[in-house]
Amino acid sequence: MAVPIVAAPMGPDLTGPELVAAVCNAGGFGILQAQLCPPDSLRQQIQYTRTLTSRPFGVNFVLHFPHDAGVQVCIEERISALSFFWGDASRFIQPAHAAGIKIIHQVGSLDAAVRAKQAGVDAIIAQGVEAGGHVAGQVSTMVLVPRIVDAVAPTLVLAAGGIGDARGLAAALCLGADGVVMGTRFLATPEANAHAAYKARLLSATEEDTEYTVLFSNGWPDAPHRALRTRFVNEWIRREDEAHSIGADEPLIGHTIIDGAEMPVQRFASLPPNRDATGDIESMSLLAGQSAGLIREMRPAAEIVRETAQGAERLIRELSRSFTRE
Ligand SMILES: Cc1cc2nc3c(=O)[nH]c(=O)nc-3n(C[C@H](O)[C@H](O)[C@H](O)COP(=O)(O)O)c2cc1C
Repeated sequence: MAVPIVAAPMGPDLTGPELVAAVCNAGGFGILQAQLCPPDSLRQQIQYTRTLTSRPFGVNFVLHFPHDAGVQVCIEERISALSFFWGDASRFIQPAHAAGIKIIHQVGSLDAAVRAKQAGVDAIIAQGVEAGGHVAGQVSTMVLVPRIVDAVAPTLVLAAGGIGDARGLAAALCLGADGVVMGTRFLATPEANAHAAYKARLLSATEEDTEYTVLFSNGWPDAPHRALRTRFVNEWIRREDEAHSIGADEPLIGHTIIDGAEMPVQRFASLPPNRDATGDIESMSLLAGQSAGLIREMRPAAEIVRETAQGAERLIRELSRSFTRE
């Protein structure tokens, strides 16, 4: 990685081969999310990504969902890094290391970071509560990152949550992080596989327009997440118990296509809408972080990587000059 910027894995397929490759080719590191693909298809996605970039990239698994066969594919393919979230990844560390693969684990608390270090992971993502998507903890990035950095040194730490521009990268480096993970910022790129209406919503959102909730729990229960506060969310927020009382018989609000297979989308489904989703997009899970407030326009992913890295370098240089000036 030439610049310390990682494109977050965003499921089910929002961080696909095109976004991963664009970020890697610009000097960052992309992490593919393709967990709903059957193993053969995941292998094809990895191989396709390799036709778009010759640089290293990672593959992510949310441990709540089936993952053993996919992890095995990644080990056989000797990808650069396996990234895990929402569970215990320790049993994969030895086989991954034996294949020369690094392990990245995302956590939301100091305790979880210490456990990950003790298990032998190579890098820890410290995810603050500002983050978009599923949120593991309750602490802000500003506090969590230095706490974890102090506790797990010399293990590599990446900051995630609320970082959307050069200032965020510079700040994270000052907090002791080795780099940053940005999810929400990379959603507003032509390369991200998010639905066009979702991207448009993101561009008009401010930092106040997200909600930390368990509303979209259909398929992934008891898992807090941060999503855009749409009309649908406003209607149901603080009525989550009522919202979840119907369970498996929730009405259909649309369809999507994942890896060529059509899938129904039920109300309160945890799936954010990809490009191929149809139906009531506004009522789907528009996962996004508070960094939505920092996003003004769609930008190619490579430009985001370059401007964020160059801007942070300039800021740090200027700050250090102003410190040494009389
Ligand atoms: C739409 C969306 C989907 C996400 N899906 C995943 C996922 O599948 N696996 C994962 O480890 N993290 C996932 N995350 C969380 C990110 O890894 C990361 O913590 C987060 O994006 C950082 O906060 P930010 O959105 O403010 O940049 C997702 C985030 C978003 C916004």
